[in-house]
Amino acid sequence: MLLIGLVGCSPCDTDETCPEVSVCDEGYVRVDTLRAAAECTGVLIGTALTPSPLDTDADYAEIAGTEFNYITPENAMKWKAVEEVEDEWDFEDADAVVDFAEAHGQAVKGHVLVWHKLPPWIDENISAEDLEAAMSTYITTMVERYRGRVFAWDVVNEVFEFTGTYRRSILYEKLGEDFIADAFRLAHAADPDAILLYNDYDIEGVGAKSDAVHAMVSELLADGVPIHGVGFQTHLNAATCPSASEVEENFHRFGELGINVNISEMDLRIAKLVLDASGEPDPGNLDARLGTQKVLYHQYVSACLAEPACDAITFWGFTDARTWVDGFFGPDDPLLFDDQYHKKPAYFGVRDALVGLPLAATGGNRIRNPGFEDDTDHWTSWEGSIAASSEQARTGDYSVRSYDRTADHAGPVQSLLDRLEPGGAYSVSVWARLRNDSGPHTIKTTMRRSDGSGIHYDRIATAEVTDSAWTLLEGTWIFEAKLPIESLSFYVEGPPPEVEYFVDDVRVSAY
Ligand code: XIL
Repeated sequence: MLLIGLVGCSPCDTDETCPEVSVCDEGYVRVDTLRAAAECTGVLIGTALTPSPLDTDADYAEIAGTEFNYITPENAMKWKAVEEVEDEWDFEDADAVVDFAEAHGQAVKGHVLVWHKLPPWIDENISAEDLEAAMSTYITTMVERYRGRVFAWDVVNEVFEFTGTYRRSILYEKLGEDFIADAFRLAHAADPDAILLYNDYDIEGVGAKSDAVHAMVSELLADGVPIHGVGFQTHLNAATCPSASEVEENFHRFGELGINVNISEMDLRIAKLVLDASGEPDPGNLDARLGTQKVLYHQYVSACLAEPACDAITFWGFTDARTWVDGFFGPDDPLLFDDQYHKKPAYFGVRDALVGLPLAATGGNRIRNPGFEDDTDHWTSWEGSIAASSEQARTGDYSVRSYDRTADHAGPVQSLLDRLEPGGAYSVSVWARLRNDSGPHTIKTTMRRSDGSGIHYDRIATAEVTDSAWTLLEGTWIFEAKLPIESLSFYVEGPPPEVEYFVDDVRVSAY
């Protein structure tokens, strides 16, 4: 890891190196700040900053200075901010952010040297030669000016389309893809010690765009281009974001290239988890949606910590009062502190992940008759029969037996209509065991929802199950929906119809 030792204390095992944490691994949470929590991990914890409130808003400056150890200027180092008019340079805002970071013992990530959002004096009429010269001057000027003060640079930003083809930017049209390697070489020449990064959005999961970035980075490395890492912006919509396990897998394949990865601009939108009948965000169930946000922040931070190559997590701001999201995607609450600068559940999700505390589902069980001790009350079966059975019981005297099955999806079902909050996140667990077949066969837990957008089947967990032991199926389910919700059913399904199985100790509880 390149970053350990820069600002942090690692390992976190004594009061001397981590004064506010007693024993991270054993789960005591005595950290006052994310910064203290992160310094147990060796991972940098960052925020984007804008300079004006640093002077005018004491609460903003206080949180910025204490909660984080890594700072990215949100806009102040962008080409169009620094050189809005050709050859007229304005470093005031960039200097202000760097000065603030240094005064608070924070590392700085420079953002961003090459981006398709260019200053107004660069348009389609510029010659390739002039563009190359301007780009070279800008990169060299910035990186030399902040040499020794900026730890890492986002050198190239967002060159791919969603499909994985190169974005037809002015840079690409005039210079071809060579501008990418050139930018890294220029930055390296200006500061050989700086960590140089590629940065992009919608590349957190595995797909055409992240494949394209992976291929490009592989090629750059093969050509000896000085690139040291990839930033995954992680501007997420809770209703559509990739699972944390997919993100972890994706981070890992980049780590295998021998480079570092980082979460570079994280925010997490929750407005569209529940839509009203006309497709607009439904403002209800805010607590449930904030709980889902906490779960997802915890999962994403944990995905970074699980990957040895992941060395930093930066949020794109910290308060919902100041976020680009409201203007770009519509009103939302995507960050860790609310409009009044109070810590949100999301903050605690990040903190708990940093100190290694698992997510706890604290709510009561929403399933009625979860252990089948009251016969099959509240349960029915799709395409087959169920009966309470004392032949097997993981706890208590009974389980349920699923038999006479006529399809793979036959199994015990319970309606949860009006028992779960739209927008919420739920921990779901079930124990299963085969009856008349040694297996193994795959058993699945499923939530079936029919609402204003149709019928949806969400797979929560799968496991290979045998007849010789009880097997746990466990997962998290997020209740996204378009109102009105017509039906909501939880069920256990999976093996071929002739296979009978037992289910016991069903649990669905809120985080
Ligand atoms: C955004 C800023 O947050 C806004 O204030 C600004 O108006 C536009 O840019 N990807 C990036 C960031 O790399 O630089 C963008 O920041 C958000 C998307």
